[in-house]
Amino acid sequence: MSDIQRVGVVGCGLMGSGIAEVCARAGLDVVVVELDASALAAGRERIARSLAQAVRRGKLAAKDAEAAQERIRFTDDVTRLADRDMVIEAVVEDEAVKTEVFRTLDKVVEREDAILASNTSSIPIMKLGAVTGRPEQVLGLHFFNPVPVLGLVELVPSLLTGAAAVERAESFVREVLGKHVIRSKDRAGFVVNALLVPYLLSAVRMLESGFASLRDIDEGMVRGCAHPMGPLQLADLIGLDTLKAIAESLYEEFKEPLYSPPPLLLRMVDAGLLGRKNGRGFYTYATS
Ligand code: 3HC
Repeated sequence: MSDIQRVGVVGCGLMGSGIAEVCARAGLDVVVVELDASALAAGRERIARSLAQAVRRGKLAAKDAEAAQERIRFTDDVTRLADRDMVIEAVVEDEAVKTEVFRTLDKVVEREDAILASNTSSIPIMKLGAVTGRPEQVLGLHFFNPVPVLGLVELVPSLLTGAAAVERAESFVREVLGKHVIRSKDRAGFVVNALLVPYLLSAVRMLESGFASLRDIDEGMVRGCAHPMGPLQLADLIGLDTLKAIAESLYEEFKEPLYSPPPLLLRMVDAGLLGRKNGRGFYTYATS
């Protein structure tokens, strides 16, 4: 049985709320920390909606949804993470913000062998481990959106992550969360985003150049390759600001043109068209 029972999640956006939800559904005691009060309220609401949807879809009994909700405590006080066995950071994809979180976790989390994990999709884990006094406990656990639905986690040790932390994290994800694990070296984008992001950026370039229409690009990949959604729909699901940030990290690491974010993506982010999360991206969505 895993010794990880008390989990902390830092950041309550799309990914943080999904991670908190799957941990609570697995029976763990969860503390969610988010400094921004409106983001905290939105995260709480997102989790409640997702649990209700799981009940409607027959994936979860109503009493288990209620119990999961009760296992999550929401706070803006980071010292509430002191007694955690594992903390998963899921704040905005910005190196300065993430390193600050890891400096804080290093001071606050008391258990010496607590695992400090990042859900980063592209920032080197070594940069996060390096700002702590315990890089052997720092690793990447990269989940996929929507977290309650997608069954993969990428496990990313840095050059200094200890073997014991890697083994504990892997059995936690497999046995407690019930998700499949693949391992990746600590390279920007890991396995999945290093392959996925150039594809999404190519679709943006295709649209930008007038090569094909929005709907035809998406239909092409849904009907021609049996993808569950087209690349521009998926870009909207991921969030265009997040996609831009991942592309920039990949470009910074590999200096390959295929990773450079195209002007249309940059302008859409400048315009605040961020995708599903705020109702407008390549498509328009009803906001609730
Ligand atoms: N909890 C549990 N299960 C749920 C659920 C919830 N809250 N909501 C839905 N489900 C289940 C449904 O019951 C259904 O299960 P079934 O197939 O057994 O019936 C399944 O999830 C699909 O749900 P829906 O029918 O509501 O939705 P769709 O069939 O329209 O699929 C989608 C929606 C899951 C988003 C699908 O389109 C999809 O998988 N798209 C691709 C997503 C993707 O590629 N994500 C990765 C993004 S990259 C990333 O995250 C990395 C980051 O770093 C950028």
